[in-house]
Amino acid sequence: MKPFKLLALLAVTAVIVAPVVATAHENLGLDTPKPKIAMTPPMGWNSWNKFQCNIDEGKVRAVADAMASSGMKDAGYQYVVIDDCWQKTRSADGTIQADPERFPAGIKALADYVHSKGLKFGLYSDAGAKTCGGRPGSRGYEFQDARTYASWGVDYLKYDWCYTGPSNAEANYTTMAKALRESGRDIVLSICEWGDNKPREWAANIGHQWRTTGDIRDSWGKDEGWSHSFLWILDKQVDLWPDSGPNHWNDPDMLEVGNGGMTATEYRAHFSLWAMLAAPLIAGNDLSTMTTETHDILTNKDVIAIDQDVLGQQARRLVKDGDFEVWVRPLKGGDRAVVLFNRSEAAKSMSVDWETLQMPDGLKADVKDLWSKAVAKNVKGKFTADVPSHGAVMVRITPKV
Ligand code: GLA
Repeated sequence: MKPFKLLALLAVTAVIVAPVVATAHENLGLDTPKPKIAMTPPMGWNSWNKFQCNIDEGKVRAVADAMASSGMKDAGYQYVVIDDCWQKTRSADGTIQADPERFPAGIKALADYVHSKGLKFGLYSDAGAKTCGGRPGSRGYEFQDARTYASWGVDYLKYDWCYTGPSNAEANYTTMAKALRESGRDIVLSICEWGDNKPREWAANIGHQWRTTGDIRDSWGKDEGWSHSFLWILDKQVDLWPDSGPNHWNDPDMLEVGNGGMTATEYRAHFSLWAMLAAPLIAGNDLSTMTTETHDILTNKDVIAIDQDVLGQQARRLVKDGDFEVWVRPLKGGDRAVVLFNRSEAAKSMSVDWETLQMPDGLKADVKDLWSKAVAKNVKGKFTADVPSHGAVMVRITPKV
């Protein structure tokens, strides 16, 4: 076949084939629309990073109290989520039962308590026969569990992927999405299959957020088997920016801020970059005992405003020069959020020029440092700052019109 004929044939085939490929992931029987309850990334707290299975209703109440009274609720945090190990058994009719020793008042009473604080309540389950912690999973009970959650007042479900065998992730998450949508209550679906089954190809129609990696650990750069450091996880996010947006977010896993394994400078970098990534901001420390330093990181309203920007565009890493990086996130109205990130062992003077930010060289802009709160007025051409070792300088750049 002559080359031009081959090209013409390919072009026609592409037109015919493309819609089929595009719809392949669209349905699987999921015809109720996804509730629009995560138009900006969800914010809250989850028990796992701090407590693992050592969780009980007293701790959850204390966290809810702290979230409501410490300024976290005012800063935008709302979901109080119990991760694995709250479940114990199923009753004879299949209803999931909480561990009676750790949750003697029951989950509904706990959800009511959280709601009484003006907050929302979340739970965890798993698409397999068991959860990762070996508790009863939801396989075969998806619709019953979703109805139970709705009757308890659950607002958010983290749905894990242990003990699933050789099953299809898209189909399993679709089943739970359908069950939740038919439960009569709006429930955020947080997909947690660690990015193993190409969720970027199918998860946006099914869940409100999806994990992109295995678990985070409270470490700047030291990985250990299945649990990954802040830097390792950050590097895995670089190419994912096209997938994320309002009501469907990439989830680089929960925050470790305040858990003790990193310095305050490193935690500020972690928080800054999660905000740049439009990540769900799910605190993972004990809010009831946190230090002022931790509190001030988690409640930095200028940084949170970047995370919650309604345009919902995830940042791109536009400069990578060894240990020195520039991350840029376009914001609604034309502002840019920029992080100058220094992975090295020494402080460094770093710059970003207007060309990188796609702004005319002569344009004047105000530059606000979102941690020090200093504002530089009428800056032209480039912005320069001293960035501490293992640190981030995060600014909001407002072009003058
Ligand atoms: C998996 C998840 C974690 C946590 C644990 C609970 O590892 O990725 O976030 O939920 O299970 O067992």
